[in-house]
Parts: sequence; C-alpha cells; structure tokens
Amino acid sequence: MASAWYLVLVIITQSTICFASVSLELAPTRVAEEEGNKKLPIVISTWPFVEAVKAAWNIVDGGGSPLDAVVAGCSACERLRCDGSVGYGGSPDENGETTLDAMIMDGTTMDVGAVGALRYVKDAIRAARLVMDHTEHTLLVGDQASKFAISMGLAGPANLSTDESMNIWSTWRATECQPNFWRNVVPDQGSCCGPYEIHSQQVHPFRALHEYGNGRPVRTSSEKGFGLKNHDTISIVVINKLGKIAAGTSTNGATHKIPGRVGDGPIAGASSYADDDVGACGATGDGDIMMRFLPCYQVVESMRQGLSPKDAAGNAIDRIKRKYPLFVGAIFAVNRHGDHSGACNGWTFQYTVRGSGMDEPQIFTIQPDD
Ligand SMILES: *[C@@H]1O[C@H](CO)[C@@H](O)[C@H](O)[C@H]1NC(C)=O
Repeated sequence: MASAWYLVLVIITQSTICFASVSLELAPTRVAEEEGNKKLPIVISTWPFVEAVKAAWNIVDGGGSPLDAVVAGCSACERLRCDGSVGYGGSPDENGETTLDAMIMDGTTMDVGAVGALRYVKDAIRAARLVMDHTEHTLLVGDQASKFAISMGLAGPANLSTDESMNIWSTWRATECQPNFWRNVVPDQGSCCGPYEIHSQQVHPFRALHEYGNGRPVRTSSEKGFGLKNHDTISIVVINKLGKIAAGTSTNGATHKIPGRVGDGPIAGASSYADDDVGACGATGDGDIMMRFLPCYQVVESMRQGLSPKDAAGNAIDRIKRKYPLFVGAIFAVNRHGDHSGACNGWTFQYTVRGSGMDEPQIFTIQPDD
C-alpha cells in the first residue's frame, strides 16, 4: 500500500508539482475516514490528575484545538497545585524559592515553546505557549523568561512561595539539608549544609568520586527524594478527532534542587513529545536522569518503526534501566489511533485517560514488572 502511494506520488510529482501537493494534503483525511477512529478525541495525563484531564477534555470535545486543551489541562494542575509538584508553592529550591518548568509541543508542525526556571510567574504552561506562538525561539529561562511572560500579559511578579513550601524548606535546613543534589564536595554533602566547594586535594575527578564520595558515588532516585509523594510532573497528550496531536508538561521540578536547575520538563522529547504521523508520549520521574535519554522521543521513534505503545514504552524504560537500574520513572505512550500503554521503574505508575466512548476519566495502573 505504502509503495503504491509512493509510486503514484512519483508519477504525479513528475507531471505537476501542484497536483502532488494536493494529493499529499488529502492523504491524512482519507486515513482518518477509513479508520473512523472511535477512540478519538482522547486525553492522557500522567498520574491521577483527573481534574486536569477533564479540563483538557472539555476543550477538545467541544471542538477546541489540542494545543488549547493541553494548556487547559496543565493550567488546571498549576492552579490546583497537583501533588504539590506542579505550580506555585511546591518543591522549594535550596534558597526556598519555587521555580517552574513547562513545555508545549504541536505534533502537526513540531513547533515547541518552553520555559525553564521561571520565577515570579505562576502560569508556566501559558508562558511556554507564548514562547511558541510569539517567538522564533524554543526555550527561555530564568529572570528573562519571567520578564518576557509578564511583558506578554501574564500576571506577575508574584510570590510563588506558600507557608507550606517555606515549611518544607525550613525543615530541610533544620535537618542538615538532607537530601540534596551535591556530590564530591566539602563539607560532606551527606551530613552538612553548604556552601560547598571542591575538595582542595582533589587531583582527579574520577578518583575523587570514590575517595570523597562518601562511599556511595551513585545515589538512587529515591535517595534524592523522588518518590510517590513527589511525583514532580504533569505530562499530558491530547489528540483531536482529526488526529492532530499536542503534548505538554508543567512542573515545579525537584524539591531542594540547586538554584538554576532545569529538569526534563521543558525539554522536547524528554518530558513529552508528539508527532501527528505516529503518536505521542508523556514522562515523569527522576528528570535529571531521564532527560539524558530523551525517552519520549525514543518512544515515538520506536512506534514509527512499528513497535506497539506497550513495547515502545517498555523499551524506553529499559534503555535507562540498563545504565541506571535504580532510577525512578515512568512513561505513557499513545499511538495516533488512541491506543495507549505505559511502563515504569522503581515505583507504581498511574495515568489517566478520557477518550471518546468513555463516560469519565479512567485511571490505569502500571507495575514496574508489567
Ligand atoms: C512569600 O510568601 C511566603 C509564604 O507566605 C513568605 O514567607 C515570604 O516572606 C513571601 N516573600 C515575599 C518576598 O513577600
């Protein structure tokens, strides 16, 4: 079938370019009609973030764009401060400040907008959307991202701390700043607060890892504080009736992160990814590790090669596990027809789905050895 189309296109291209481009535009419509997909539209989100899924569903079911639905879903979580790990008032950094990471991706055009370490502005996903819609850039960070967001009409500067986040921070200070994200420093990061510096006798960085690494050069995700009460991310995917896909992510990152840390949230292909031709993916977990593998890019590319959503998700998790057996993380995968699955490591994962033909959002549970 594919080769037949290719042949037709080659012949058409040789006769008239104009005609060829018309044929190309018709192809997706033909596919959608033939498959008459009963699962679309569909919304999928990490974790039992049911309110976020409902908000996104209401937009896309009402005929709104997948991008608008992604913004509605992430914004709902930012307002509700889902799990304390999305939006303001959570995950204070070493200075007690909450900063936000967010990203939105258009699977039709592959446009991406993102913000990292956003300060003083609560609407992270809206800021990401502004980067996508009104600039040629992909990612803005820090103070400059905040200035951009406010200049484009978002509320701010706002205090992103709450009594709750300040309490988390002061408890952490009172317990010698444990856990934290340092290694190979003095004083010993395993028992003392900073400021830290490089050990003066350190001659070789690799030797230092063993000599000054407090006997545990590689810490597990859970030792760094990633766990079930620190889910850290909403990643959401929306596919409309016509098969147009958008994906997005919003998070306040890792609790007690070193100021300036940006995780996987605003990195396309890490926290989420979408391509109308194939499908999409959302991820959550130890972002510092996961972003090294672009797991969502991997999932979409694996599905492009013919893997099922389940195998693609499992494969992406396995690739990380091979190098970091104890990492904590999870992925959901969805193909362009709305078939979905998930995989995880180090914790039990849940994701929420609302699709055509369902009366309400449903929560799916994935075990690490599924
Ligand atoms: C921000 O809010 C927190 C929590 O209510 C408060 O402790 C802190 O002083 C506020 N910061 C500023 C600059 O107002």
